[in-house]
Amino acid sequence: MKTRTPISIYIIVTVGLTVMAFEMFAHDSGYFSSPFFWALLLIATILLLIMNSIGDLVENEKFSRLSSYEKQEYLREKSTPYFQKLWNSAFKKQSQTEEKDILIDHGFDGITELDNSLPKWWIGLFYFGIIFCAVYMLAFAFTDYAHPDAEYDKETKVMLASIEEYEKNAPTINLETAKYSADNIAEGEQLFKTNCVTCHGDGGRGGIGPNLTDTYWINIKEKSLFKNVFWMLENGSPNNPAMRPFVKEGTITGRDAEKIAAYVYHINQETTPITVTQGGAAPQGEEVKWENNNQ
Ligand code: HEC
Repeated sequence: MKTRTPISIYIIVTVGLTVMAFEMFAHDSGYFSSPFFWALLLIATILLLIMNSIGDLVENEKFSRLSSYEKQEYLREKSTPYFQKLWNSAFKKQSQTEEKDILIDHGFDGITELDNSLPKWWIGLFYFGIIFCAVYMLAFAFTDYAHPDAEYDKETKVMLASIEEYEKNAPTINLETAKYSADNIAEGEQLFKTNCVTCHGDGGRGGIGPNLTDTYWINIKEKSLFKNVFWMLENGSPNNPAMRPFVKEGTITGRDAEKIAAYVYHINQETTPITVTQGGAAPQGEEVKWENNNQ
């Protein structure tokens, strides 16, 4: 007769599997503080205890039918601690007589084969793998668990909310308060790519909209180049509705406009103009000498 796995091991495994399942199906619901979670654990534990008591009865009944030698064997086995038994089943070498019992009746050149039973840790891992796989597949099929898209959406929402919060409290930036900063150029370039490239071309070389890298300008509303670009972003073009009032219509914020204007300043003043021969649009408007051009 075989000895039984102690109830404590069952309880630990059950708790572990329950936490795993909740972690997959309800990981962001704060299940740790939900009464449902703890009630489930309690019920599972009570069921295990009941099963264990039934197991005790069955075991007693079986024990009484054993021969006295078997009884002794059984008691000896039962007195070995569980983990030691696990260890033995994994690593202990069988004695000669034990090997004889499980020797398979074939061999070649003195090589023989033993019919070992699989170690318990191996079987445990095997069943754990199967259960984990089933739980994982269910969680993946029916919940957002482990879906990169869902995680991405969630994080984006959190990020956008925090940006909105920031915009609410941060002072708004307008034509007066906008300041040039070289630190804004890189971000301005990204914003330019999303909002402006369709008309003003790669690097501001021009297309539907004028070339922004040369010294010729149609709209001269401010004395400095930086402020002039900001003015255009705020008000749009008075001559051509294609150049929209991006800030006023709410497509970009004043903060974005400050960054984009820094980028346009950079491509206009700190890099060489993209000429017609290099694929740039022909100059439009009149040549301008800006004063204090980044203030
Ligand atoms: C739908 C096309 C379109 C988009 C998108 C667009 N623009 Fe324009 N932009 C124009 C046109 C057309 C003009 C010329 C307006 C005029 O003739 O007064 C212009 C003019 C300008 C001017 C003034 C140029 C000058 O010579 O007077 C600046 C600066 C400018 N745009 C910057 C931007 C920036 C920065 C963005 C991105 C936020 C942007 N534009 C997006 C079409 C566009």
